[in-house]
Amino acid sequence: MYTLLKQEGLARRGTFQTPHGTVQMPAFMNVATAGAIKGAVSALDLKAVHCQVQLCNTYHLHLRPGDEQVYQLGGLQRFTRWDGPILTDSGGFQVFSLAKLRNITEEGVTFASHIDGHKIFMGPEESMRIQSHLGSTIAMAFDECMQNPAEYDYAKHSVERTTRWLHRCKAELTQLNAQPDTINPQQMLWGINQGSVYDDLRVEHMKQIAELDLPGYAIGGLAVGESADIMYHILEVLNPYMPKDKPRYLMGVGTPANILEGVRRGVDIFDCVMPTRNARHGHAFTMEGVRNLMNAKYALDQNPLEEGCQCPTCQHFTRAYIHHLLKAREMLGMRLMVLHNLYFYNTFMEKIRAALDAGNFDEFYRSHIDSVSRRI
Ligand code: GUN
Ligand code: ZN
Repeated sequence: MYTLLKQEGLARRGTFQTPHGTVQMPAFMNVATAGAIKGAVSALDLKAVHCQVQLCNTYHLHLRPGDEQVYQLGGLQRFTRWDGPILTDSGGFQVFSLAKLRNITEEGVTFASHIDGHKIFMGPEESMRIQSHLGSTIAMAFDECMQNPAEYDYAKHSVERTTRWLHRCKAELTQLNAQPDTINPQQMLWGINQGSVYDDLRVEHMKQIAELDLPGYAIGGLAVGESADIMYHILEVLNPYMPKDKPRYLMGVGTPANILEGVRRGVDIFDCVMPTRNARHGHAFTMEGVRNLMNAKYALDQNPLEEGCQCPTCQHFTRAYIHHLLKAREMLGMRLMVLHNLYFYNTFMEKIRAALDAGNFDEFYRSHIDSVSRRI
């Protein structure tokens, strides 16, 4: 259940109660695609980096180890030892971005596994059954995520099919939640808005999916080839049509600046591989900008990644040591970088929430929007 505590402009400060704990919003989800945060970070580390919600992927876990196996082991929470909220993405994005040889029909999508090429079929019912086996807190609807810009006619038909798929997802999950042996009988279904870059398709789709009265709504199909300005425009266009009493999730976004712009346009929750992926390439996020630890200028630098940072990495280790570990391709280098970046993202959201609580989000936005994404 979403509770709106405070609003400043379109920016929302709220809470979202789930059977696995309450999420303070705006929030950032930490991406653990195959049940682990990349960079050798376990559930034991997540509290230390202030993680609230973990995100896992239906597609990856279905291929390996298999959702049936995760089910037998008691579900994702017990399997990964993260007892807080987990959101699973439906496969609707990964099937279109990772898998090869896709064939889309009304029923669903046939594709080849990116691991061994074997043929797999996934439709709304399959996605719901897999997510039910995984036992996540929130199951995402099975959708088609188009690359931008898509042809208008293609986008129109695709969105209509995504709506029909959403009805099938709801019927299937309702039925699965009522089974006596289900792991999480309170599993929620969140809908996903699509419509490529077309205002009318976006609005029409949002109106239709809002009618299903789902406990949350995502905006998908963004950050897939269009400019950031188009993404911000779509958020503004959709804003009046999004239910006020439900959380709003901007999928796969983004940089700290994208997050500030998203919050300013009413987004409550985000996810992105950026803190983990960029960490593995040596990029550390800080409030002053992004630092590249591969740079030779850090070889003798005894400061922490970010001065004043209370993360597990910055409390003990120097830029010089991390620079060395990254150069030597020691696994520890990546791990220390990932811990810092996740802590940065999660505490960045805490700062946004504190600013909203204090009624000075606009000031916070203006002081950080330019600095937070620059290269230093
Ligand atoms: N992740 C990022 N964008 C999307 C999207 O449009 N759909 C789904 N299912 N996941 C996403
Ligand atoms: Zn740090």
